[in-house]
Amino acid sequence: MIEFMGKQLKNPLIASSCIATESVSNVLRLAENGVQGAILKSCADYERGKVSGKREFAVDSTTGYTYASAPFGSEILTLEECLDLLHVLRPQTDILLIPSFTAASLAPDKWIPACKKIEEASADGIQLDFFYMGNLIGTNGLSESIVTLLRELGAALNIPVMPKLNINLPKDFIMPLLVEGGVQYVSLLDSVRSPYLRRENGVYQISERLDADTTSCFGHWQLPLTIGYTYTAAKYGLKVCAGGGVTCADDVQKLLATGAVTVQSATYLTKYLNRGNKLLLI
Ligand SMILES: Cc1cc2nc3c(=O)[nH]c(=O)nc-3n(C[C@H](O)[C@H](O)[C@H](O)COP(=O)(O)O)c2cc1C
Repeated sequence: MIEFMGKQLKNPLIASSCIATESVSNVLRLAENGVQGAILKSCADYERGKVSGKREFAVDSTTGYTYASAPFGSEILTLEECLDLLHVLRPQTDILLIPSFTAASLAPDKWIPACKKIEEASADGIQLDFFYMGNLIGTNGLSESIVTLLRELGAALNIPVMPKLNINLPKDFIMPLLVEGGVQYVSLLDSVRSPYLRRENGVYQISERLDADTTSCFGHWQLPLTIGYTYTAAKYGLKVCAGGGVTCADDVQKLLATGAVTVQSATYLTKYLNRGNKLLLI
């Protein structure tokens, strides 16, 4: 048995925050297939911008290639949508339900009231999503702001918070701050796009699509980065929910061997939910 956020899990598989975790029916389907927890699609409680681009998740039916494009304005849940999801899901499943919240700045008052509402709605923990805040490195007092936010959230809540890392937060910079901020859990690694060259009509062009069987939406650069972040996080004593680039059971084993406690997947689960196929990881 694996212990994570106060629950005993039968296997280490968690669904990442993504399309696969933004509706009741998808989350219940993941649970029926043995997934032990769902990090719900990220939500925010500030005004969402006007739709800034098209939202796409495509699986090419002949090659199996996946492609995702998800601009903030057209895809993030509102806080109310997230709370509704929790209210409907909680009585129907005992898997870990971990909503994901993002705010417009690192100021604690932008996070605490919403996170308290999420806690009251029976969440098991809360993922803190910094991805939509852009690149924070270089902003004044960043280290202090992160530590203050984490400490104040820790003091205000009775459930754990789990920051989600992205490559704009370098691993050797962020891990000591998470420890100083008093968090136990970390979620990683958010989307990394990896372009490669492909030839079309005699011209080389940059493509983001890679080998369909061995890559996620975010390409073959993602798994080695995820492994590196996992190794460093585990070295700092953090309980890691590791994912990003997971496409088969062997990838899950690699992350567990590197020190992850649980393993998460977005592209793989979304791909198989979308196709109506049985989820193959389990
Ligand atoms: C369509 C789509 C939407 C996503 N939305 C979110 C989100 O709202 N919050 C979040 O933390 N990560 C989000 N992600 C990132 C995933 O949780 C995950 O970190 C990333 O896709 C890498 O994992 P994968 O290789 O298994 O896809 C999204 C990914 C995809 C493909």
